Amino acid sequence: MRKKTQKKFIDTLAARLGQTTQGHRTMVPPIYQSSVFPIDTLEETDDIFEGIKGDYFYSRDGNPTSDVFGESVASLEGAEAGAASSSGMGATLATLLVAMESGTHLVAARNLYGKATVLLKSLAPVLGNNIEFVEATDTKAWEKAISKSTSAIFLETETNPLLRIPDLPKIADLAKQSASTFIVDNTFASPFHISPLNFGADMVIHSATKFLSGHGDVTAGVVVGSRDWISRVKSKISLVGVNLAPFEAWLALRGSKTLAVRLAKSSANAMKIAQYLNTHPKVTEAYYPGLDSHPDHETALKIMQNGFGSMISFEIDGGIEKVGVLFKELQQIRYAPSLGDVNTTITHPAKTSHRGISQSERTLQGIQDGLIRLSVGIENVSDIITDIECALRKI
Ligand SMILES: Cc1ncc(COP(=O)(O)O)c(C=O)c1O
Repeated sequence: MRKKTQKKFIDTLAARLGQTTQGHRTMVPPIYQSSVFPIDTLEETDDIFEGIKGDYFYSRDGNPTSDVFGESVASLEGAEAGAASSSGMGATLATLLVAMESGTHLVAARNLYGKATVLLKSLAPVLGNNIEFVEATDTKAWEKAISKSTSAIFLETETNPLLRIPDLPKIADLAKQSASTFIVDNTFASPFHISPLNFGADMVIHSATKFLSGHGDVTAGVVVGSRDWISRVKSKISLVGVNLAPFEAWLALRGSKTLAVRLAKSSANAMKIAQYLNTHPKVTEAYYPGLDSHPDHETALKIMQNGFGSMISFEIDGGIEKVGVLFKELQQIRYAPSLGDVNTTITHPAKTSHRGISQSERTLQGIQDGLIRLSVGIENVSDIITDIECALRKI
């Protein structure tokens, strides 16, 4: 019999993901490539559909491979349960639908992935919700906005793209006082660097497309939290059809097993690259929570573990024209509108992740047209710096 009581480190948990599946004796969970599961008798239908009998019946409502992935991320985050979804946006949508039917007042960070902001603004009038947006790191603004009528609070633990680190314990206290649900998107930090549930968050969302899967070959999302909440999120996933396909779940699970080794290397690389960019004469600003100069460095020291993450943002002299030149001059680092892969990629938030919000909104968030976002990979750090150095020389 397997003993479940020993506390494990995240590298151990990650490497052993997927071994907990019951009912088969494989080391790696099989891909249940089946949209439907036969039912033995008509009499048991009610119990199966109502979840009383835990059998699978239709993959939009649950699939064994996809469930293994959801449960695996739950184990990395220290949560009771997890639900896999077809993308980070699918996971966000399903979670927000539950949050928005639980009450009418939501408070959200204004610094979110662009499409998350658009989603909140699109859903609110349809579902009769009122959303207040506040600066993610302005604890006083959270305090002012959150009241007894607030039902949910939503923020990113490390914001896209300026890598701000909100004070999770303080905001969690406010959530507790107002009895609201504290929902966080932990995509940028991943459970390797931030464990939001330890700081009082209730629900954690990931775009598993990024660091969790890590190889740029799968689009996936996941939500973890209490059994009760996850069961409600799963029913929304089924309702709107944002379930994760079994093969994608299998890929995401395989990627997640190496989360700790990948991120140990990429975050160590990121620290060196951030220090290099921070003193480069052509770089006007470098944003990395591991730098003393970052406005949330003190909070990062309190909240982050195993380093300060693999994302860096920076601005160069000369604005967007020079950004275009830089991207052309890079020989190895590709311009790609995503992040979290084993290979280093670079992107331009104003034209990609945050193009759906207005220029004035971007300015309010501090996202200038000259801002560049770097997702650091696991290559040799000297090769990454050489590529950036050669390109910077040409601008
Ligand atoms: C912080 C964050 N959350 C959610 C998403 C959405 O994830 P996906 O692209 O998997 O739908 C993204 C996408 O870039 C993101 O950066």
